Formats: sequence, C-alpha cells, structure tokens
Amino acid sequence: MKRVIATLPGDGIGPEVMREAVKVLVTWDTHENHFPQETIDLCKSSDAVLFGSVGGPVAHASEPRWKDAEKNAILGLRKHFGFGVNIRPAKIYGNLAALCPLKPEILARGKVDMVVIRELLGDVYFGEHRTEGDEAFDVMHYTVDQIKPPLKFAFETAMQRNKKVTVVDKANVLDCSRLWRRVANEMKDEYPEVAMEFMYVDNAAMKLIVNPSDFDVVVTANLFGDILSDAASVLPGTLGLMPSASLSDGTLHMYEPAGGSAPDLEGLDVANPIAQILSGSMMLRYSFKMTEEAALIDAAVDEVLNKGFRTRDLLLPGETEADAIGTAEMGDRIADAVAALHK
Ligand code: IPM
Ligand code: MG
Repeated sequence: MKRVIATLPGDGIGPEVMREAVKVLVTWDTHENHFPQETIDLCKSSDAVLFGSVGGPVAHASEPRWKDAEKNAILGLRKHFGFGVNIRPAKIYGNLAALCPLKPEILARGKVDMVVIRELLGDVYFGEHRTEGDEAFDVMHYTVDQIKPPLKFAFETAMQRNKKVTVVDKANVLDCSRLWRRVANEMKDEYPEVAMEFMYVDNAAMKLIVNPSDFDVVVTANLFGDILSDAASVLPGTLGLMPSASLSDGTLHMYEPAGGSAPDLEGLDVANPIAQILSGSMMLRYSFKMTEEAALIDAAVDEVLNKGFRTRDLLLPGETEADAIGTAEMGDRIADAVAALHK
C-alpha cells in the first residue's frame, strides 16, 4: 500500500536523526515563516507527519530567524491539524538501568514502563494571553470535548497494558481539574476492568521520582503533561529514547521525538536516532495499523541495545566515547535487525 508521509526534519540534529528513521522505515519497502503554507499543504496531502526537532541555536534565540521558532512551528501544527492527544512512553531498558538517575533501590521496586498521555489543544496554552502594564494573564480553559479524547485514549491504552490509569490534576484548586474529574468519572464505567486513580500534580511529580514503577498510564492536561512528560523522559537516562505521537480525531497524525534539536550536536554524527526511529514505529502502529511491523522495529531496537551498541548518550559508567557508535551506524544496525527479524 502506498502511503505519503510528510517528514519535517527541522534543524540541529533533527535532519540527522530523521535520516536514520527514514532509513529504518524504508527497510520495507528554509523559510521566513516557521509554519509556512507549504508545510501546511505538504502535511495536508500526506497520510502522516514524521517530525524531527526544531528550536534553533540557544545563543541566537532572540534573532528574528529563530525567535519563537519552536513554539510557532509546533503549536501551529498542533492547532492547525487538531492534534489533541499526545502520547509519550517512558521505560527503562533493562540493560540501560545504570543510566537512570534514580538509586538502584528505587529501581528494584519494579519495572519502570509508563506512558504519559497529555491533552494538547486546551489549557493555558491556548487560552487568552495578555499583558497590561505590570499585569499579565494566561487563561486556563477547558471544554468537555477537549478532555474526552485523551481520557478515552488513556482508558483504551490501559486495557492493552496493565489496566491502571492515573488522572493527574490540581483539583484541590482548579475548576478545570474538577471538570477533568467529572468527565473521567463519567467515562470510567465503560472500562470496568481499569483501575483509575486521581493524583494531584505536585504529588505525581514526587511519585515519579520515588515510585516510578507504580505508574502505567498517566493522563493529564496540557501544561501538567508538558512538565511531567519531561520528568518521565529522564527516567530512561537520555531524551534520545523517547518517541511521541500526537493524534487528531481525523486520519492525519504527527510523530516526533520528545527531545529538542540540540544544535550543539549538529553534524557530529553523535545524536541518538532511536527516539526518531521509535516515533516512526508509532506512526506505523497508530496511523497505518501496521502493528506487527511496528512491533518489529521495537524489537530491533531492543535487540541492538541488548547487543551493547550505544550512541554517546547511552554509554554506561566505565564506557568511553571510543565504545560509542554514531548516529548513522545506529540507524544501519537497527535497519539490519529489522531486515533480519522480518525474514
Ligand atoms: C513540548 C514542548 C512544547 C510544549 C514547546 C516547544 C511549545 O515543550 O512539545 O513538550 O510546551 O508543548
Ligand atoms: Mg515540553
């Protein structure tokens, strides 16, 4: 089946890691505007969007060319195409546990394997922003229609995992959070097998560090999800392992690594392409329902990691840069593993 995919590699290490993701996916078979019409048209005429990373060099962040690049490009895409449900899985790979910043006693409590589901189109992100002299306003706003899709996705995901959903909010203070609780309670009856708990976001931040193995599916609002998914992303020990998917209620969805464009690493062949490759596998799973093929890519990544191949960010204590492989070699090895598993 022919599928058209818009790849938007971005800048910094974006193009390098994207090249590797494209390499793995094909085993079977510069503007003044940060979100130009051409991008919209390209995405619109595609079956999926595979996004790299944007951001630009930190030192030049205030120059017109880069100012708000990340925000304009990403928030523009989300809003324009209605990507309301964001999925960010975080797991600690068995043989990479030493990369996790947590103490071994904490990791000994259980397997860390969770998925953070974040609402992407509401909250203070898209409420009114206004500055009046010495006062500023960012309005937190939610509608039931915005809250339902991430909760539905969370319940359904939990059914395929360990059947536990943690709804994270600040219902002791916020009306928006109380609305989330109301909707969650209303939807819960459709999923009698799922255990649902509510947790305040401050407590959740703490638990992510002291008891990360307690979580299975975490679902939350836009701003809390932004913060908690970054917190969860450090558990594997590197941002280079965390893919993400942003789903709309239509057929066009977007896939991107959770990390940024790391301009300091550009062109050095050191970036880890795994988050981009796993974003490709999420694309096969969610956009094209190619579950087996997606599982094959995930298995190939596991295999290559288990064999001890590591980009620089994955080096274990005692290993040196001489033990690391580059971006392209990692892509080659995963592509080869896919081809071998495919036989
Ligand atoms: C993310 C990023 C974005 C967000 C920024 C770049 C606007 O941090 O995708 O998590 O806050 O959503
Ligand atoms: Mg973020």
